Amino acid sequence: MDDHALRVEDVSVRFGGILAVDAVSMTVRKGDRWAVIGPNGAGKTTLFRAISGEVYPTRGSIRLHGADVTRAPPYRRARRGLGRTYQVTNLFPDLTVEENVLIAANGCGRTRFRCWWPVRMTGELGQRVDGALGQVGLSQRRRHHVQELSHGEQRQVELALALAGRPRILLLDEPAAGLAASERATMRQLIEDLPRDLTIVLIEHDMQLALDLVEQVVCLDNGKTIAAGTPDQIRANEQVQMVYLRSD
Ligand SMILES: Nc1ncnc2c1ncn2[C@@H]1O[C@H](COP(=O)(O)OP(=O)(O)OP(=O)(O)O)[C@@H](O)[C@H]1O
Ligand SMILES: [Mg+2]
Repeated sequence: MDDHALRVEDVSVRFGGILAVDAVSMTVRKGDRWAVIGPNGAGKTTLFRAISGEVYPTRGSIRLHGADVTRAPPYRRARRGLGRTYQVTNLFPDLTVEENVLIAANGCGRTRFRCWWPVRMTGELGQRVDGALGQVGLSQRRRHHVQELSHGEQRQVELALALAGRPRILLLDEPAAGLAASERATMRQLIEDLPRDLTIVLIEHDMQLALDLVEQVVCLDNGKTIAAGTPDQIRANEQVQMVYLRSD
């Protein structure tokens, strides 16, 4: 029995002359929390896109809960319990918070081709929307239009979109990007409080924030893994320090 939630083996992604991800491997056990860190252009988002099926690797394999999904389309991976948030905001600003979450919960996001409309906030779907809004602390804001919300709250809605799909593995691409200090603290707490059986892989520029939330870290630079280990090992790693000094 494979008790790994996610196994990335020797994955490379090439875009023309650029090797965006270069022979990266990671084995994430169920319920583990990992961070992927590294400077701009290191290949972090491309690695997530390969895991979620938006790009196919040039080499290597990807397994979700033991099943090889290397060439599977995104919706199949979503059905296997994979959820993700995006580095760039992905909401409908003139719909309400609850409508945005409902659309995601109904599988009308980027992962499926078909969409039934109107969908209603009833039954299991309604429960998923309620649950996701509760988990991100936005139950009271559900009838507000997304464009009325602060940037921090909008990032929380994006987390709700992913949670509404009831993922077993959640990929978070810079969930705290561009947030003010107090908003970052809220986001940090929300992630910390997610259920412990949810497997999480987090991309985050802020090393302090990332390393506080996880047990394992991979640091990428130029597509390659330059360090992997526990937060303490990563903090003490000279190559990681050099990369971060260089990019400051
Ligand atoms: N669709 C694409 N076509 C061509 N090159 C791409 C494409 N997507 C990414 N790249 C390149 O691949 C490299 C890795 O990009 P990626 O977005 O994965 O980095 P990142 O680590 O997420 O960076 P950031 O911290 O800025 O978000 C970069 O050199 C980028 O320009
Ligand atoms: Mg990125």
